[in-house]
Formats: sequence, C-alpha cells, structure tokens
Amino acid sequence: MLDQTAIADTLGQHYDLAPSLETAEQLGAIYARMRRVVPPEDWAIHAPYVAAINRLKQARNAVILAHNYMTPQIYHGIADVVGDSLQLAIEATRVEADVIVQCGVHFMAETAKILNPAKTVLIPDMEAGCSLAESITPEGIAEMRRRYPGAPVVTYVNTSAEVKAASDICCTSSNAVQIVAALEAETIIMTPDKYLAQNVAQQVPQKNIVWYDGSCIVHEQFTAQELREFRDWNPGTRIIAHPECPPDVVAEADFSGSTSGIIDYVAREQPEKALLVTECSMASNTSDALPGIEFVGPCNMCPHMKKITLEKVLWSLHSMEGAVEVDSQVAEGARQAVQRMIDLSRRAGA
Ligand code: 13P
Ligand code: SF4
Repeated sequence: MLDQTAIADTLGQHYDLAPSLETAEQLGAIYARMRRVVPPEDWAIHAPYVAAINRLKQARNAVILAHNYMTPQIYHGIADVVGDSLQLAIEATRVEADVIVQCGVHFMAETAKILNPAKTVLIPDMEAGCSLAESITPEGIAEMRRRYPGAPVVTYVNTSAEVKAASDICCTSSNAVQIVAALEAETIIMTPDKYLAQNVAQQVPQKNIVWYDGSCIVHEQFTAQELREFRDWNPGTRIIAHPECPPDVVAEADFSGSTSGIIDYVAREQPEKALLVTECSMASNTSDALPGIEFVGPCNMCPHMKKITLEKVLWSLHSMEGAVEVDSQVAEGARQAVQRMIDLSRRAGA
C-alpha cells in the first residue's frame, strides 16, 4: 500500500478534492444532519470527499456499513446503513451489492466477510483494531474450557474469527443478556470482556457467569466517582452508559444499552440534558436529529474507530485495497457461532 502522501497525490489526480463552498452548498441536505457539530468551513473541506465517495460507490456497486462511532461526516455523509454491532452483522447478511465497505473496526469487517463470503469486504484501514479483540486468542478460550469443563463459551463479537470459531456462540452488547439467559447450562463462560460479563451477571442472577480478563480501553476509563460528581453539579442530567463500562459506572446510570440502544433511549425519552458514557461520536451523530437535548459531560475517543477517515474510504473504493480474507475453515466455525447468536436473538426478540 502507498504511504499517505502518495495516496493523497493519487486521489488528487483522479478527483476534485479541493475545499469547495459550491460543493458544500450542493450537499446542503446532507450537511443539515450535522450542522450543530460540524462548522461550515470544515464541511467545505469534507464535502468534495463525500461527493467523490458517493459517486464511486455507485460505480463500484458498493454499500457502506458504518458503526455508530464513526465521525458525523462518515455517519451522515456516506453510510448506507448505520448501527451497532448486531445491526451491522444482520445487515451484512442482506447485502446484494458486490462490495461492502466496512466503516468500523477490523472484527466488524471480518464478521461481514464471514456472513457474506462471496462479497468483497473492504476495510479502509487494516490497523483499525480493538483492545478487546486483541486481548484473547483461541488458546485463551481453550484455557477457560479447561478451567470450567463443560461450560459453554459465549464470546463477544469484538474478537477475531479464530476466537469466534473456538466458541459456542457469540453475543453483542444488545443481546448478551438474552443469549446467556437462554442457554441451558448453569455455569457460562463469557469472553473476553470482563465488565460486560459482570454487568450481564447482575441481570441474570440465576446463572454462574465466569469471565476472561479483557476490557475496552475506551469504556474502562470512566469512573463512578466522576459520574457522581457530574450529577451533583448538573442535577437532572440523564446518564446513559454502555455495558462495556465497569459495573459501578453502570450502576450510576439511568440506562445501559448497546450503542443503538443508547440512541433509541435518548430519542424516546428526550431528556433536557444527556450524558452518554461512551465514545464521543455518539453525541455528535445524534445531536442534529435531537435539537432539544443538550449533550453534556465527558466522553472518550476510540483511537481504532477514528482511524477510519473519508480519505481512506475514498482510497479503498478507488484502489479496492484492504479486502478482508478469512480462512474458509475458520470462517465456517466463526459463521456458526455468529449465526447461532443471530437466530437466538431473533427468537428472544433482542
Ligand atoms: P455496540 O455493539 O454496542 O455497537 O458496541 C460495539 C463497540 O465496540 C462498543 O465499544
Ligand atoms: Fe473496541 Fe472499545 Fe474501540 Fe469498541 S470502543 S472498538 S470495544 S476499543
């Protein structure tokens, strides 16, 4: 792959990417969805990329699946489908286009490929990883099975295909409780997120849940103390936390759910002030659609998600570089674990 300067030069030769007030104005309907959070001078820089990507997407017969943590320019500007991990996995099974561009992290692109092996799945930056996915290998799963013989392994989708293939079933933050509750076993191994496991354990007390020692570098940074202080200084703020946060942080929240669960909650409840205890783009992406809500308080950036930029998306569609491949035997094992999750969560209505 070329370096960033060579990529910028090559793209500049093929597309008109100079900042343009005219293009910014032509794409005014798209800009209206992010006006509160993207200054007009930034939009004049980004609009030419959005225009080029949307044209090229058609020429390549491609769809863009984007996670809720993408920047507003990606989320509102170029995505065909946005959602949490479960929604993106389900959408990947329905894609008819030839090419999927996954604006998210590597495990999400791998999941799309596993579910849709005949399609070309591109990720604009192969280095967009995840601290949870990096925390565990198939050997880690084998070790947990040795420690708890006979217990089924429920693995978070934030993992590699090899780890999924070594597991019995996957889960996401939106269906973990339903998946665990539906399993017959009394003792259940959850990997690799210890905090998700501990939060699920509180909601499914009839099960003995044991966990691996992984965590998310974004959500583990929040503390219960900072939320308590924030609430004291800002009475009436609704606090909403992702279940990758430590349990004492979730205990301070009014609601906990997946990234799409969080968006649905604020849209439904319309609190005057909301503190989203998760990645910073969540508030930015929701802000214009919900003008009555003031988003306040601390948030953290995911350095992996933020590796995906408009320039890299344009490059991946231009060059068709960054295709995700999964060994067919591994893919089959992983597909079974993901498909069991999709089937079970449909039955449980999660
Ligand atoms: P969701 O499935 O809730 O979108 O979570 C994915 C993720 O990586 C959160 O950090
Ligand atoms: Fe992984 Fe955490 Fe980033 Fe989500 S926010 S992709 S769990 S590192």
